Amino acid sequence: MDVLGIDIGGSGIKGAPVDTDNGRLLCERLRIDTPQPSTPDAVIETVRELLAHFAWRGPVGCTMPAIVKAGVTRSAANIDDGWVDFPVEQSLRARTGCPLLVSNDADAAGIAEMTFGAGKDHQGLVLILTLGTGIGSSLFYRGVLVPNSELGHVEIRGREAEKWTANVVRKRKKLKWKEWGSRLDYYLAHLEFLFSPDLIILGGGVSRRFARFSPYLTLETQVVPAALRNDAGMIGAALAARSLVDD
Ligand code: BGC
Repeated sequence: MDVLGIDIGGSGIKGAPVDTDNGRLLCERLRIDTPQPSTPDAVIETVRELLAHFAWRGPVGCTMPAIVKAGVTRSAANIDDGWVDFPVEQSLRARTGCPLLVSNDADAAGIAEMTFGAGKDHQGLVLILTLGTGIGSSLFYRGVLVPNSELGHVEIRGREAEKWTANVVRKRKKLKWKEWGSRLDYYLAHLEFLFSPDLIILGGGVSRRFARFSPYLTLETQVVPAALRNDAGMIGAALAARSLVDD
């Protein structure tokens, strides 16, 4: 079944129709810069642009870089404060006229990796982290998601992990791979201690450069790069929204 997957991030909003039977994009994705300020109204307008571009009227899966509980965004770490307690699902449904489901972006990326990517068929405890503007996390045990885990906000050396280890910090501070890799290692070692995962999957655009920083990771847990890279959010959003039609 085909579902339009939309991945809303702090810097870009990407969309593509996804064949949810195999996780493939049906055509080239479209990326539009996230409007600034990234108010709900402006972002919803961009989502409408994406729908118009693909002339889409079918089911839509959408991510948000925020806690999403019962269709309401409950936080706004890297987006406009207007998203706190915003009824995103209801508003997007009303303004697009499409059946639509909203998931946390890292949960969506995790769903995609567990279904078609680096965690496919894994039955243990799998931790997926997306390293981008912030750090997103998703946790799976025996293939079942524990949603909204928000592990980018655990405290590391007196500050939020994402403020110290996100990929955007590496770029902004021009950190060498060794320095950033060691920070990441420290953070991952803390998560390894807390959760004893069987597998850690690292996603986000920087997963493409895995070979550059993996030499600095000293964990016992197996750590692998995400297989679906930056498409994971769109694919997972579409997979999550399949239930709208399946049910
Ligand atoms: C947000 C998460 C999100 C992550 C990645 C964090 O700042 O709190 O909800 O998954 O960034 O976008």
